[in-house]
Amino acid sequence: MRREEARVAAQPSTAAPALILLGPPGAGKGTQAQLLIERRGMVQLSTGDMLRAAVAAGTPVGQEARAIMERGELVPDSVVSALIDEALGRIPAGQGVIFDGYPRTVAQAEALDGLLARHARRLSRVIELQVDEEALIDRISGRFACARCGAGYHDRHKRPRAPGVCDVCGSTEFRRRPDDTAETVRTRLAEYRAKTAPILPVYEARGLVARVDGMAPIEEVARAIDRLLVDADRPHP
Ligand code: AP5
Repeated sequence: MRREEARVAAQPSTAAPALILLGPPGAGKGTQAQLLIERRGMVQLSTGDMLRAAVAAGTPVGQEARAIMERGELVPDSVVSALIDEALGRIPAGQGVIFDGYPRTVAQAEALDGLLARHARRLSRVIELQVDEEALIDRISGRFACARCGAGYHDRHKRPRAPGVCDVCGSTEFRRRPDDTAETVRTRLAEYRAKTAPILPVYEARGLVARVDGMAPIEEVARAIDRLLVDADRPHP
């Protein structure tokens, strides 16, 4: 066992899990986070959702982020790390956390180390959803959500049971994200390759990374993630 792995294994195994879901746009991070909330009572910390809420509310953060997000580029590290810091402070210590879309740069990964220490949390797993980039364009450009409750759908893979009516809340209003165009998705993929993929070796050196086939059906991906979390929960010898 490498020295870094030994350090991770020696930490208390009773802490609520903190999990990073990593993968390019459309890999299924948000979809899997929703299932983890339902099945394991974890809390999702999605910087994308936080930024979209800030844009909708017209806060200073939202005003700064709006144009950057519409171009598919990354919002400054200090802005997103401050959002995570604030959110972590509101979550009860016993509740597991899913980081969805954060960290996205090496600087954010370094900031997260400090935040986890400050909030007395331990990173249990980094799960990379591996996907085929061509399929992502299809996934993202077909995606839409209920305007009232946020339930997610897809033009081909997951249509509402009754056409034009949300399965969950019955609303007939739907919306699409302004950055879900084929051109912006290409920029988001390029940002992922250039700035986010380099954080994987950082976590690999700590023995935390596990890879899951994100092209498998949603339920199969969920089962693979669940198996990894059960392993991470087991007391270390
Ligand atoms: P963010 O909101 O994080 O977007 P993203 O990473 O581009 O990811 P998505 O939400 O598009 O995809 P996802 O992986 O969650 O897939 P989903 O489950 O929805 O970020 C948006 C922007 O905010 C960034 O571009 C940046 O500007 C800014 N930002 C956010 N965080 C930042 C940070 N930390 N630093 C700097 N800037 C930041 O699935 C997609 C579709 O596929 C759905 O329709 C779903 O139903 C379908 N699907 C999912 N899984 C499967 C499957 N297994 N099979 C078939 N279909 C599937």
